[in-house]
Amino acid sequence: MKVSVKVPATTANLGPGFDCLGLALPIYNTITIEETVLPGTGVEINMIPEVEDVVDERVFDNIPTDSNNIVYKAVEMLYNSIGQEPSELKINIQSQIPITRGLGSSAAVVVGGLIAANKLLGSPADETALLSIATEVEGHPDNVAPAILGGFVLSSQEDDGTVTWRKLDWPEDWDITVCIPDFELSTSIARSVLPKEVPLEDAIFNSKHLAMLITAVCTNDEKLMKLALKDRIHQPYREKLIPGMKEISEAFKHEDGVLGCVLSGAGPAMLVISYRYDLDKIKSTVRDIWGAQNIKADFKTLKVEQQGAQILE
Ligand code: HSE
Repeated sequence: MKVSVKVPATTANLGPGFDCLGLALPIYNTITIEETVLPGTGVEINMIPEVEDVVDERVFDNIPTDSNNIVYKAVEMLYNSIGQEPSELKINIQSQIPITRGLGSSAAVVVGGLIAANKLLGSPADETALLSIATEVEGHPDNVAPAILGGFVLSSQEDDGTVTWRKLDWPEDWDITVCIPDFELSTSIARSVLPKEVPLEDAIFNSKHLAMLITAVCTNDEKLMKLALKDRIHQPYREKLIPGMKEISEAFKHEDGVLGCVLSGAGPAMLVISYRYDLDKIKSTVRDIWGAQNIKADFKTLKVEQQGAQILE
């Protein structure tokens, strides 16, 4: 038996929503899991890039294709949660989501692997259980929640491991331009530069701005959103890893139609959120800033994907 699951890309954090906000975007990975009949064949994992990436495709060489692969680990956790060991599995990953750029490529494969394996097992786990396992593997729910559910999602993992989430309506006419540079940044490096503790005033700054962001989204308030998209607990520390990040944010600060410019997840991709603003101007501004540092970039203006992971029939 063979099951394929299509999973959207995701962007996490959106500035002050560190580790708890994320939204799904219409770029997809498709994960297919097949139980092989021949015993002793072990696990086989194939990565199939489906788009020409601006980064050399050799990035795929660094991804383990054995039982150390993150998809296999997630699948193994699911099997173990029902007292079983995974059988011989062939896992194919057709990948449109750029890797190590802050667009949820690992969340997508973890979610796809879990949903496919769950179906192969006769669906013993419900959405809540899958979300908890995916969060355990990823370390935070902000990418896996919208990858499973679609849309704009606020999520939090509670002390007992369960994930609480709510979907919010992203205003239709707020454009999201994803700016994807031609260099990689792994989440582990981007997290390693964060401090273990932050000053109280920075924690207060972020709680205020996160509350403002949620209110702005729920009430379609562009003015409030422009004030809300600020963060002091992860972006300032990550700036040193992303050439041009500061200049890009500065460039749009006084443009009324640009509501904000934030890192996509742990970066290095950046999101420019705008309202009735010239999208070509956004692209040319970012292209010029990165171009001056010999960084090439790809740009996509995207709508929020409301559909989460889907089993393909
Ligand atoms: N919230 C995570 C981070 C997203 O910023 O590190 C990356 O997976």
